[in-house]
Amino acid sequence: MKIKKTILITGAGTGIGKDSALALAKRGHKVIATTETDDQSVLLQKEIKSHNIDLVVFKLDITNEQDRKKIEEHDLDVLINNAGIGESGSLAEIDIDKVRHNFEVNVFSTFEISQLALKKMMKKDHGTIVFVSSLAGRITMPFLGPYCMTKFALSAGAEALRTEIHKVRKNVHICLIEPGGYHTGFNQRNIAKKYVWMKEHSVFYPIIDQIKAAEERLFNLVESGTTLSIVNKIVRATEAKKPRLRYSAPWWQALGTHIKQHLPI
Ligand SMILES: NC(=O)c1ccc[n+]([C@@H]2O[C@H](COP(=O)([O-])OP(=O)(O)OC[C@H]3O[C@@H](n4cnc5c(N)ncnc54)[C@H](OP(=O)(O)O)[C@@H]3O)[C@@H](O)[C@H]2O)c1
Repeated sequence: MKIKKTILITGAGTGIGKDSALALAKRGHKVIATTETDDQSVLLQKEIKSHNIDLVVFKLDITNEQDRKKIEEHDLDVLINNAGIGESGSLAEIDIDKVRHNFEVNVFSTFEISQLALKKMMKKDHGTIVFVSSLAGRITMPFLGPYCMTKFALSAGAEALRTEIHKVRKNVHICLIEPGGYHTGFNQRNIAKKYVWMKEHSVFYPIIDQIKAAEERLFNLVESGTTLSIVNKIVRATEAKKPRLRYSAPWWQALGTHIKQHLPI
C-alpha cells in the first residue's frame, strides 16, 4: 500500500504548485497548500470545495520570517519549495536590487524555510525536501540572466546539501525538480518585467523588436499547455523512498538541455 505523507507546498496558489497540490491530495496525501497572499488562499479554498478535495490552506509568504515559522506547527514528511519569481533584462543594465530580490525569494528564503523543515527531519531521520528549480538552472537564456542565476544557485545549493545530509542521515533526502517551459503565465510575466524599464536609454533599445520576436518564438515552441508531465515528476519525487537528485520534464527539453550543456562552445 502506498504510504500517505504530510506534504507542504509553497506558492501553491497558482500554476505548477497548485496542480501538484491537487494531484497529491487526490492520491490520498495530507497536503498543506500555502499561498503567497491571503486572497490566493481564499480563492484556492473556494476551488477545492468545488472539486471536493481536502487540503489545508493558509498564507505563507516565504520572505516573511513569521510566515516561515508556521511550518514548525506541522510534522512534515515532505517540503516542496515551489514558490518562485523571475526578473528579466540584461545584467548590463538591470537595477541590481531587482536581482537581489529575485535571489531573496528563489534562493535565500527558500533555504531559510528549508532549514526549519530540515531541523525536524534530521531529528527524526526522515523526510524529503524538494526544490523546484528549472532547466534554466543548467543553461541560460539571454535577457533572463537574473532568473537563470537564481536557479543555477538553487540547483547548486540543493546538490551540495544532498551530499552533506547523506553523510549524517540516511533517510533525509534532497532532490531537484527541473521544469522546462510550461504555460502557467510565469514566463510571460517574467519577460514583460524588463520592458517597464528597458526604454530609449537602453543599449538594447534598437533591437527591442528582435528580442520580443525571439522570445515569443521560443516560448511558443517550448511551453507545454498542461503541467501534467512536471506534476507527475513532483508526485514521483514526493513518493519515492529514495528520491533521485534530479527529475526533469518534458523529456525532450531535458534531453536538449543535456546536449546543449555538453556542446563544446
Ligand atoms: N512555468 C515554467 O515554464 C517554469 C519553468 C521552470 C521552472 N518553473 C518554476 O516552477 C515554479 C512554479 O512556477 P509556475 O510556472 O507555476 O508559476 P506561478 O504560477 O507564478 O507559480 C509561482 C508561485 O509562487 C508564488 N510566490 C512568489 N513569491 C512568493 C513568496 N514570496 N512566497 C510564497 N509564494 C510566492 C507566486 O505567487 P504570486 O502569484 O502571488 O506571485 C505563485 O503562486 C517556480 O519556482 C518557477 O521558477 C516554472
